[in-house]
Amino acid sequence: MDNFSYRELLDEWQDEIRMGGIAVKELADDTPLFVYDLQLIERKYLALRNRLSKNVKIFYAMKANANRYVAKKLADLGCGVDIASKGEFAVAKNFKDIIFSGPGKTLDAIKHVGPICSYHVESFNEAEKVATALSHQRIGVRVNASFQVDKGVITTSGGCQKFGIDEEQIPLTIKRLKKLKIKLSGLHCYSASGVLDAKLLSENARKIIGLAKRIEDSCNVTFDYIDIGGGIGVPYKKTDPLFDLDLFCNEINNLAEEREIWIELGRFLVAECGVFLTRVVDVKKSRGQAIAITDGGINNMLRPAILQQHPIVKADELRPQKTEKYYVGGQLCTSLDFFSRDVRLPKLKEGDLLAVLNAGAYGFSESMPFFLGHDIAGEVAVEKGKIKEIRKVSAEWYLLRR
Ligand SMILES: Cc1ncc(COP(=O)(O)O)c(C=O)c1O
Repeated sequence: MDNFSYRELLDEWQDEIRMGGIAVKELADDTPLFVYDLQLIERKYLALRNRLSKNVKIFYAMKANANRYVAKKLADLGCGVDIASKGEFAVAKNFKDIIFSGPGKTLDAIKHVGPICSYHVESFNEAEKVATALSHQRIGVRVNASFQVDKGVITTSGGCQKFGIDEEQIPLTIKRLKKLKIKLSGLHCYSASGVLDAKLLSENARKIIGLAKRIEDSCNVTFDYIDIGGGIGVPYKKTDPLFDLDLFCNEINNLAEEREIWIELGRFLVAECGVFLTRVVDVKKSRGQAIAITDGGINNMLRPAILQQHPIVKADELRPQKTEKYYVGGQLCTSLDFFSRDVRLPKLKEGDLLAVLNAGAYGFSESMPFFLGHDIAGEVAVEKGKIKEIRKVSAEWYLLRR
């Protein structure tokens, strides 16, 4: 099976976590630390690419992880990239096809990024800005559809949204753009994140294509491509299903027979490639509950506290005989700072190495690094035994420059 989740990786690793063939404990002198296995990204990308027809273009949503080695790996594999800022653009330069999405693009950012594969505009105002700054630039319109994917972890379409232009406002927007001789070449609709039900995400894609056709007919426009967004989820729990990639890709290939389809993915491509390593710095009990305090916290990785779903293991003891229930949290003086309130782990002591899995997506990129002035987590990318390191940045360095 070429598609996989953290559960299959635990089976592959057997007793201890290995990234790029190296036991992560060998890399963990200086924690907290993110470790990325670039080969795992290749496996995930190819699992998708090999199932999709040529008429489907894949873009990497760099917001999931802007580590330069991760980005370069995907660029080398021929993937396109979806950026959301000037900073991400700086890392995106190896990619052949770049698209720019996200609300509130400023004229400054548009001029800085310059001509690219397409801008996905989120308002009439933005379309005007892009067309004024860059003549002949391809523009796609992001639509806030009237429908919603209801089982996504996070939905970004349907109802009132800051994203895109409401479906009902599209005809008038196109009329106004036509008056200014601004052409829309594509339609973009990003609906949800973390969807594990392939049928649901395929149905949503079908609805987006239907919406595009209705707009084409009623507004007398033709779109070169339809971007159906991202949202393929990955399992975080034992009971989560593995997304049915065959079903989804077959459906998308059917839709792509008529026209070019774009898909932009973050989590699916990079979640499993990363582990976040953190050492236990204290162990105690509070009213009967075992507590492990770690040297990493939500300053390094915020998502587990918000969604309470990331798997946590002891990095060098993946099959413990006996376990205990732990609350695992970092050093920050806020009760928000925890990785899990009840995870079963072998008996822990100071110095033990814990690993938060699925940390390749929305880990480092979605941290709050300056809260409390701890050092910023380091990053290491590993490929077939070769190590590419990005050093830890001391918070002192930044704070004294403010
Ligand atoms: C415009 C856009 N595209 C793609 C993505 C990637 O989503 P996912 O990581 O769920 O695939 C996001 C995530 O927020 C997004 O905002």
